Amino acid sequence: MHRIEGYVIVSVDGMIADINGEIPDSLRNDADQNFFQSSLDRAAVVVHGRHSHEGGPRAARRKRLVLTRQIADLAPDPLRPNSLLWNPTGASLEEGLLALGAGDGPIAIIGGTEVFSMFLSRYDAFNLSRAAHARIPGGRPVFTAVGPNASPEDVLAAHGLKPGPRRDLDAAAGVTLVTWQR
Ligand SMILES: NC(=O)c1ccc[n+]([C@@H]2O[C@H](COP(=O)([O-])OP(=O)(O)OC[C@H]3O[C@@H](n4cnc5c(N)ncnc54)[C@H](OP(=O)(O)O)[C@@H]3O)[C@@H](O)[C@H]2O)c1
Repeated sequence: MHRIEGYVIVSVDGMIADINGEIPDSLRNDADQNFFQSSLDRAAVVVHGRHSHEGGPRAARRKRLVLTRQIADLAPDPLRPNSLLWNPTGASLEEGLLALGAGDGPIAIIGGTEVFSMFLSRYDAFNLSRAAHARIPGGRPVFTAVGPNASPEDVLAAHGLKPGPRRDLDAAAGVTLVTWQR
């Protein structure tokens, strides 16, 4: 059994990107990137939607499942040799991991909105970084249920996750991290 872990950085208002799907500079932070990239180095597989990607020099080495509705179940990824395209309607996560030949280690879920939401009942841990100086009105929320009446924390708590201590990743920039565990 693999642990399932989520990773995100959100604005004060719970957004992961602006209305166009672009990540603004106010959400980019070196300390958060270091935490994110080193966590992904320990993951067996990275999972994300077709518009997301972690970037960075080590990305090509990582095994990944890329969600898309353009295929029926599982298919080779023409862009990346270590990757498979995955439609969860036609194949389970476990079938995807088997087809990839996933080794030991957690499965890292890295977005976007629909993908983060889809795994809410399955996370063993969700790493919620927050940039206190970023606000993105009208942006893309981390979970579909986030809005004026529901914060990311409300959604995680409603799905049975509990917060750990808040850590300063970059105190000067106001970037913190809370790991929510089941
Ligand atoms: N701040 C952060 O930490 C963070 C994290 C992640 C992403 N982001 C940003 O947020 C932006 C917005 O993300 P997004 O939510 O639009 O993109 P996304 O989830 O990366 O990609 C959306 C696409 O993924 C596929 N998909 C999603 N859910 C699916 C499902 N249940 N079954 C099958 N396919 C599925 C679909 O691809 P097809 O159209 O091919 O069917 C869909 O168009 C990204 O562009 C990225 O820049 C930020």
